[in-house]
Amino acid sequence: MAARPWGIRYPVREFFDEERQVHESISRRRLLQSGAAIAAWPSPATAKGSLAAAARRNGRSYGAAARLDHLRKDRAFAATVAAECAQLTPEVELKWAALEPARGQLSLAAMDDLAAWARQHGKSVHGHTLVWHRSIAPWAIEALRDEPDWGIVHRYFASVMPRYGDVIDTWDVVNEPLASDDGQDGLRPSPFLAVFGPDYLRRALDSARIFAPRAKLLINEFGFETDHPRDAAKRKRFLRLVDDLRKMGAPLNGVGLQAHLDLGHGRLSQTALEAFLAELAARGLILMVTELDVKEADYAAPVERRDAAVAAIARTYLDVALAQPAVRGVTTWGLSDRYSWLEVTPADLARHSAAWDDGSGPGVNRGLPLDAALRPKPLHKAMLDAFAAAPKTTV
Ligand code: XIL
Repeated sequence: MAARPWGIRYPVREFFDEERQVHESISRRRLLQSGAAIAAWPSPATAKGSLAAAARRNGRSYGAAARLDHLRKDRAFAATVAAECAQLTPEVELKWAALEPARGQLSLAAMDDLAAWARQHGKSVHGHTLVWHRSIAPWAIEALRDEPDWGIVHRYFASVMPRYGDVIDTWDVVNEPLASDDGQDGLRPSPFLAVFGPDYLRRALDSARIFAPRAKLLINEFGFETDHPRDAAKRKRFLRLVDDLRKMGAPLNGVGLQAHLDLGHGRLSQTALEAFLAELAARGLILMVTELDVKEADYAAPVERRDAAVAAIARTYLDVALAQPAVRGVTTWGLSDRYSWLEVTPADLARHSAAWDDGSGPGVNRGLPLDAALRPKPLHKAMLDAFAAAPKTTV
């Protein structure tokens, strides 16, 4: 293979195995139950006092990322998702490695069932995500390398986008295209960048437009919130990317702001965030907070203090985000700490080595609106209050 200027090394298939396992366990159970479980699911509308109701009064939507296997095995959790959320984001089911584990063999059962659940409960679905460096099956990495043909990506869009067109009207077409350092002109090394160069972003948006003519097409990114030079550089680079794509006439309608907040990363910069969102809004883009959650830093503090810190940082973030009328909704990356992707890591535990002499431990990371018993925490209240205090959206 001829060397390409973008022929760099990239991280591969970190999440492929997990996605395959989730998919396989769902397929097996689905065969056994032949769909009966779906009909039996409870079907409440969003509840009074829910985050969805508070967001709606504000002209906005509230949603959470969830996995089909959790909705299926855990009725109390499913009922709570149905009550709190107007929208769902598939946590793994709509990622390429989950959908096309072998070339041309689509495994759509899990996503079909998640979409069916959403339809049945009157929820919309946020399309997450088409092009992501962390969700490419090994066959696709090899195929793109050996036969650099955009058709491979285009055909995959063709097989999933129209299928869910009735429930999905917003798509994260490209997820996390920026590098966290400044290598490769700020773009993240990936098979897409390696094979197609920076033009892959425009191509992805053009292909997505063909298969979802009316949907809002977004780029989803993280790391915009603090004064750290890394975040400042990312904000700048992201605006440049948006401008370049617009100059090329790419069909970019909006931006997903992941908002994975981290209590160990220093204070949020409200001024910088406000200015950044205003810059994006001035370009006519719709904005969505797509993956809000909070990674804790001090697991040894009493639970009340931990919950207060989580609520405070999210409130600070939301006060800025919801003051921007172009922000049309908020999604948290999970609803309950019972199923948080954020874990208390061995490094976290090492920082507090003497903290739990009584043999107890920190429990789970408490960065989502409901605790592991599905009870609302101060973060839930902070979100209700933030929606109540904010001006209405214009989008
Ligand atoms: C994560 C899921 O939560 C995990 O279950 C999966 O193994 C890997 O992906 N940014 C994103 C999401 O855009 O897709 C990621 O979701 C979390 C970080």
